[in-house]
Amino acid sequence: MLQFDLNLEYEVTLQLKSAIALCETAQDYQSRDMLLTLLKDTEEDHAHWLEQQLGLIEKLGLQNYLQSQI
Ligand SMILES: [Fe+2]
Repeated sequence: MLQFDLNLEYEVTLQLKSAIALCETAQDYQSRDMLLTLLKDTEEDHAHWLEQQLGLIEKLGLQNYLQSQI
């Protein structure tokens, strides 16, 4: 489930970067700035948290990870 969520965040990242490029082409800097905020959240918060959780599962093992969530 976490891996699927992370894959989706990566897809969102690509889509946001594409939309940001489109905004720059259209000289729509207000929309670009709004999308940049979303991109920052996606990369630095959402995807980062999911990568951390998957890293913990790899290091601790699924059973120990799940116990730590209680
Ligand atoms: Fe997200």
